[in-house]
Amino acid sequence: MKKDFISLNDLSSEEIHQWLDFARQIKQSPKDFKSTLEGKTLGMIFKKKSTRTRISFEVGITQLGGSGIFLGPDDLQLSRGETIADTAKVLSRYLDGIVIRTYSHKDVVEFAQHATIPVINGLTDFNHPCQALADMLTLQERFGNLKGLKLAYLGDGNNVAVSLLFACVKVGMNISLISPPGYTIDEEVQAMIQNEAEAKKLNITITSNIQQGLAGADAVYTDVWTSMGKEEEDAHRKQVFKNYAVTDQVMAAAKPSAVFMHCLPAHRGEEVSASVIDGAASIVFDQAENRLHLQKAVMLKLMR
Ligand code: CP
Repeated sequence: MKKDFISLNDLSSEEIHQWLDFARQIKQSPKDFKSTLEGKTLGMIFKKKSTRTRISFEVGITQLGGSGIFLGPDDLQLSRGETIADTAKVLSRYLDGIVIRTYSHKDVVEFAQHATIPVINGLTDFNHPCQALADMLTLQERFGNLKGLKLAYLGDGNNVAVSLLFACVKVGMNISLISPPGYTIDEEVQAMIQNEAEAKKLNITITSNIQQGLAGADAVYTDVWTSMGKEEEDAHRKQVFKNYAVTDQVMAAAKPSAVFMHCLPAHRGEEVSASVIDGAASIVFDQAENRLHLQKAVMLKLMR
């Protein structure tokens, strides 16, 4: 049966560790994998803009010997009302896998239900699993063992925050999500992973208190205050989040050895100061690079 990658919560901890190990192997010896997806074609439906996700998937499939077809917002008959079900069934007759970046998470789930090829979530309004898994790879490179580490996410309880929550619990990390009141993740989302966190004796802290959330953190993570699709809220959000920026003072509340992480793109002077993102603790470009290696592992696991 085909397997999709739509949410980290659909994978077991063992699978996630296997995928991370495989990504490290690919990163170490990329030439060993250069023909592994020869003759395979990845479709890439992108309804939103992308630098990292689009390029890393396209370069990744090329390096594995396959090819990618980029399908922008106006390229398919989907934009003229063809159904998701029909599109999924038709594309399954041509392609070997598909990445979808869109707004509604339900659309990706529906696509996957009708597709007979693996479907990979390249970001929805609900989550961003490829990003969070690449982030785990980056933390593993920095710290070795992930178990027992603490990640503090400061900012909007958005799709990246949700995937980080799932990823941290899956790999045995504690997480604090620090957001202004009204902007943290939904309780139902926390409930989806709470039992697993309790069984593993992990702490999930959801707070508006920056000092409390950052105490003991090994990694401090942030994202833009205004995600794609919420542009009309931008001015209001700048007011709401103005005290939730990652500055040198904020980093000082975490462990002295803490790293700074951001999925990018970043807005220096808004969610993070230039001194932090361009400083010694920043590992943001390692995160960006690891999107390539991790997604090669995902494609091989699902499409080979
Ligand atoms: N982090 C991330 O997904 O970047 P892009 O939006 O550029 O793909």
